[in-house]
Amino acid sequence: MINVALPKGRLGEKVYKLFAAAGYECPEILENNRKLIFENTEKGVRYFWVKPSDVSIYVERGAADIGVAGKDILLEYQPEVYEMLDWGFGKCRMAVAGYKDFYDDGTRTLRVATKFTNITKNYYASKGREIDIIKLNGSIELAPILSLSDVIVDIVETGTTLKENNLDVLETVVPISARLIVNKASYTFKTAAISEIVRQIKEQVTQND
Ligand code: PRP
Repeated sequence: MINVALPKGRLGEKVYKLFAAAGYECPEILENNRKLIFENTEKGVRYFWVKPSDVSIYVERGAADIGVAGKDILLEYQPEVYEMLDWGFGKCRMAVAGYKDFYDDGTRTLRVATKFTNITKNYYASKGREIDIIKLNGSIELAPILSLSDVIVDIVETGTTLKENNLDVLETVVPISARLIVNKASYTFKTAAISEIVRQIKEQVTQND
């Protein structure tokens, strides 16, 4: 049995549809229910719905052989997994944002609010800029508005959240998209089955380009 951790939500549904098109269907999964695990014994595949930011934990620890995670999570937590494929969707970017007229004159420590503390530390370390990190868990855009921070580092997809709060992208940190990840031991012990799934999924992704 190949265990696949899918991120709950639209991204996971899109990914499941590609798995189904590649021959690993399990129709019950798209029914409106609260079940978390679905399997197709004939095809040897079991899917489970996972909170998107937890997918890499399941895969790293081997509870799932395969999973789908955003590059943001992979950069932030650096899980020991193989990254096998860029799905080419779930596209967004990690960016520094703040008031359009914010100018960092470098005279004092920059206060940065974010959920992504490691990405933020690495980014500013590479620029040699000293920062004070303020770790938040959501609604990051509030921080500069309430003067909790000077800027934020966060995901920007459509830009609507920034715009509606009178903020702007100031710098792009890194582009983000969804990736197919594989547990390292699973890849060693179930090489043929996993390679075959990855090959078929790649075919589907190319056809859908
Ligand atoms: C994310 C991110 C931004 C928003 C960006 O938040 O943190 O707030 O999406 O998307 P946009 O550019 O299309 O507006 P999420 O919805 O995950 O909620 P959060 O506030 O809990 O982080």
